[in-house]
Amino acid sequence: MYTQLMQTEKAKPVTTVEEAELKRRFDARIDDGGFVEAKDWMPEHYRKTLVRQISQHAHSEIVGMLPEGNWITRAPTLKRKAILLAKVQDEGGHGLYLYAAAETLGTSRDQMIDALHSGKAKYSSIFNYPTLSWADVGVIGWLVDGAAIMNQVPLCRCSYAPYARAMVRICREESFHQRQGYDALLTMMRDGTDAQRAMVQDAVNRWWWPSLMMFGPPDAESVHSAQSMRWGIKRISNDDLRQKFVDATAPQAQLLGVTLPDPLLQWNEARGHHDFGPIDWDEFWRVVGGEGPCNRERLAARVQAWDDGAWVREAALAHARKQRTSKEAA
Ligand SMILES: [Fe+2]
Ligand SMILES: [Fe+2]
Repeated sequence: MYTQLMQTEKAKPVTTVEEAELKRRFDARIDDGGFVEAKDWMPEHYRKTLVRQISQHAHSEIVGMLPEGNWITRAPTLKRKAILLAKVQDEGGHGLYLYAAAETLGTSRDQMIDALHSGKAKYSSIFNYPTLSWADVGVIGWLVDGAAIMNQVPLCRCSYAPYARAMVRICREESFHQRQGYDALLTMMRDGTDAQRAMVQDAVNRWWWPSLMMFGPPDAESVHSAQSMRWGIKRISNDDLRQKFVDATAPQAQLLGVTLPDPLLQWNEARGHHDFGPIDWDEFWRVVGGEGPCNRERLAARVQAWDDGAWVREAALAHARKQRTSKEAA
């Protein structure tokens, strides 16, 4: 998931008696664990928070197609190529469900795309890292899609129903993404050459820490998380999700036969969790701020794809106009 960055607006005070009553009913519904539909009244701050979160999530899905898309023409076998094609297409589909969910909140697709292309909107910083070898594709499936699942499963119970419904389908597909990545790595580790095993270890070394950053800043610094938890948009805190991810991943690394690049990583019997080393948050903020290894390249690729696709959009609109005219004439 890619919802590490969000919400900056302050809640506005309720002004009229009628609005106060609407807000009371909204809060009661949230407290009951109920869902909010697009047609229901909602506080402006809730709407804006969701638009930001869902559109950032949508942008992350389509920018996330780029690092792996680089390897479609270089996949080692026909089977791996077919799997990767399906996965990258799934990510495009996730973007579409999420743009559609954000549109139900009164924002247009064009506004969201503009915000992405102008650099105003963010997407997950994980996609600003390069994919240097085929092993990176496997590691992205295992760790990046794995972290995404950890983040996204609680969103299936998000209080905004159109987002929650989109997430149910997305999570099913993400689980296939993670398994295909792990399977590709297992093949390289078990049946591969020493050089291939070294390639996997190198990819793990580069992706491990950025994957842990996908859960967002530590709870103590995540100032807007409390409001999102109160609204049932966020169900589990950044640090708790990160811990769950480390606990789930450490045994998988062992089974795979790779070493996670953290000398402080070890099982803590008393806590019932793995301890792990400090995260370089300076690097995280640098990449979020546009200074990651591939930020410019990713944005340029998106803008180029949009410009190159102009004729398709124009043709689709012309076709729709023609159909409308011929229907009216009939
Ligand atoms: Fe996805
Ligand atoms: Fe995925």
